[in-house]
Amino acid sequence: MKPFKIRDIAIDPPLILSPMAGVTDYTFRRLVKRRGGVGLVVSEFVSVEGLTRGNPKSKRQMHFDESERPYAVQIFGGRAERMAMGAEMAEEIGADILDVNCGCPAPKVVKNGGGSGLLREPERLEEILKEIKKVITIPLTLKLRTGFSDATINVVEVAKMAEQCGVEHIQVHGRTREQGYKGLANWELIKAVKDAVSVPVSGNGDITSLEYGMRRWRETGVDGILIGRGAMQNPWIFRQFADVLAGREPYQPDLAEKKAVLLEFFELCLEEMPELVALGKMKQLAGQFTKGLVGGAQFRQTLYHSHSAAEILDNISIYFRTLAERDDFGDGMVEADQTDSDIMSCDAFTQTGRDANAVSASVVR
Ligand SMILES: Cc1cc2nc3c(=O)[nH]c(=O)nc-3n(C[C@H](O)[C@H](O)[C@H](O)COP(=O)(O)O)c2cc1C
Repeated sequence: MKPFKIRDIAIDPPLILSPMAGVTDYTFRRLVKRRGGVGLVVSEFVSVEGLTRGNPKSKRQMHFDESERPYAVQIFGGRAERMAMGAEMAEEIGADILDVNCGCPAPKVVKNGGGSGLLREPERLEEILKEIKKVITIPLTLKLRTGFSDATINVVEVAKMAEQCGVEHIQVHGRTREQGYKGLANWELIKAVKDAVSVPVSGNGDITSLEYGMRRWRETGVDGILIGRGAMQNPWIFRQFADVLAGREPYQPDLAEKKAVLLEFFELCLEEMPELVALGKMKQLAGQFTKGLVGGAQFRQTLYHSHSAAEILDNISIYFRTLAERDDFGDGMVEADQTDSDIMSCDAFTQTGRDANAVSASVVR
């Protein structure tokens, strides 16, 4: 595995933080980027309907820091002229890459022809890609699922069409729309795409361990790998991958560093949002992050039941102090290394009138 290029932009190392609505915002992206090993970060998906109507939330979602480069903005929508306008706006704010979402399974997005709905209407997708190409100079990339349903797998055809339209990087999440987040991602289909096109192809789905990631990489020969939920469980996963690729022992953060990263995240959140929203974000991250920790389930409960910044900070201190003193907490169990199939998805963020941050607080269990 070696770095690859999207036109003249080096993706080095070839590891991408997968876009996650309500998660990969300015705060989380910087947290992960600071841990090292990330070759590309992508915004949350941004509605072009919101963007082109001046919705402040949509504009805010594109905000980024220079330290994040290379930085891609992902947009979604079903109407070619709106998608082109949204793409232009992303280029204007300085994004390095424009990514089109062709995978979101949320009914509201699909109903309006966007997200994975585009897999059902490749002609519409083609029109969108062509219109976008007319108005931007930065590279255009596509993130797609394998098909709308098992009966209509068409990822290879769609990828070939996208390449013809000038798409310069194809990212495949190996599930169909119908699958949602259930079952395992199909990496054979990802390989089929890699074999069928000549632009770089990155694979995505279920990578939460180095072993699994390296295996999928070797089997498929993809140029890059996207990691989503695994980054919430382990923000060092990119650095660890990069270590293995460079022939080094994978970095292992100690307890003090794990504590520090939780505190850093909370601090970053408090800089950006009201305390109540920051608490929700913290609980959302904790839902995944605590999975690799001794007594993580109990620790998570104490965080869920914290109602103020002071309380959450206290609970973090108690947990890490107890672990350091006794090497144990709660039931002492470390949960199995797996992602929930029913953790939140982009679905939760498309419901009318619900703000992503508010939802973050409610979706964690
Ligand atoms: C909470 C959540 C939100 C997501 N939002 C987006 C999104 O905005 N755009 C997108 O292309 N994919 C989105 N996805 C899909 C992920 O980018 C990724 O394709 C999927 O989670 C599989 O990768 P993983 O197993 O590494 O998590 C989302 C997934 C989750 C869990």
